Amino acid sequence: MKQALATVVEDICRRYGCDRTRMLDIVLAVQQRLGCVSTEAMEVIAREVNSHRVEVESVVTFYAFLSVKPQGKVVIRLCNDIVDWMRGYEAVADAMAKELGVTMGETTADGAITLTHTPCIGMSDQAPAALINEVVVPNLTPERARQVVRDLRRHLDPAQLITMVGDGNNAHPLVHSMVRNNVRRRGPVHFDSFESGNALQKTLPRTPELVIAEIRASRLRGRGGAGFATGQKWEFARNAPGDQRYVLCNADEGEPGTFKDRVLLTECPDQVFEGMTIAGYALGSNSGIVYLRGEYSYLRPFLESVLESRRQHGWLGKAIGGKPGRPQKRPDALQGDRAYHSEPLRKILRKLGIIPLLASRYTEHGSGLGKTRWVIERCLSWLHQFKRLRQRYERRSDIHDAFLSLGCALICFNVLQNSFC
Ligand code: FES
Repeated sequence: MKQALATVVEDICRRYGCDRTRMLDIVLAVQQRLGCVSTEAMEVIAREVNSHRVEVESVVTFYAFLSVKPQGKVVIRLCNDIVDWMRGYEAVADAMAKELGVTMGETTADGAITLTHTPCIGMSDQAPAALINEVVVPNLTPERARQVVRDLRRHLDPAQLITMVGDGNNAHPLVHSMVRNNVRRRGPVHFDSFESGNALQKTLPRTPELVIAEIRASRLRGRGGAGFATGQKWEFARNAPGDQRYVLCNADEGEPGTFKDRVLLTECPDQVFEGMTIAGYALGSNSGIVYLRGEYSYLRPFLESVLESRRQHGWLGKAIGGKPGRPQKRPDALQGDRAYHSEPLRKILRKLGIIPLLASRYTEHGSGLGKTRWVIERCLSWLHQFKRLRQRYERRSDIHDAFLSLGCALICFNVLQNSFC
């Protein structure tokens, strides 16, 4: 038995070249083949990829979808994050456990159904929610939970739990989920009219350097703590040494309360992919990867279809800007298994969705007069500050004045340098 397991795991490791950097692919393949990544399997993996078992274990125990112990044919993952607690998680968990006759983390005696909890599955707007294999079951109540378990006991087919579909693309045949969007406000950035390929068409006649300058001039920046300017990041990535660059779209979100990326992926994937394509053009990258979290894998067939449609239209693949209609070798991958050896450009999904909107308004915001106007506005703003400082210090000596003038001149110089360099 042990020998059989070792042979299977060794085969999987060899399929991935016994490459330690492919650890996630290897453990996923082992999980799919054997139903779990047992301690014995971890030891074989560690030996094959020349690593330590602790490293393999750190990967296996990090991801909720990987398991050390064998699991049932159906796995109910009930979110137990704070939002679900506020919305009645305890009663739902209790109802499910009683109906199944197990406690949390256990599998039914017949080995059919496992009940476990999991961190945020991105359904915070419709909690308490569970992921049953790949099927999302939102808005659970104790009664509904009991009914779900009874139905599963009958057919062991989570897909049959979908009795209604949500709004927007949730009702698309390739999504077919009970999820609702719950973000409906339209604005100039999201859910506005978007014409596929329009921004890309405006981008391609420009040089990559000019595109980066436009993005710099737009002042788009990250919304994380650093607030890093997107154009600057693109410039760094373009100038980084190395031949191969990758655009990585981080579509992961797992903080309790978040769900915006789910809605953007459901309703605006075309816009996000166009943003990635423009980023790829600007950076000299021919590969893009969307990190799609396992909790959103129900969106994958739909996203693949959007990518295929873009290829058919000539907005993706080697035919970009050329003739549509010929299927191309994919330059991109969802839940990709490449891009391990070069300088990545990681972009959050929300920002990539904004790129096409900026690109389609190049003449308004970025280039030529728009850029000059922005620089003049910044200079005027600094001069105004300078005037106020002078008024405040007007009774002080001339030497203070001289220092203030010098300081303001340096600031203005810095502004101009950042704008044109
Ligand atoms: S789905 Fe439970 S906190 Fe997000």
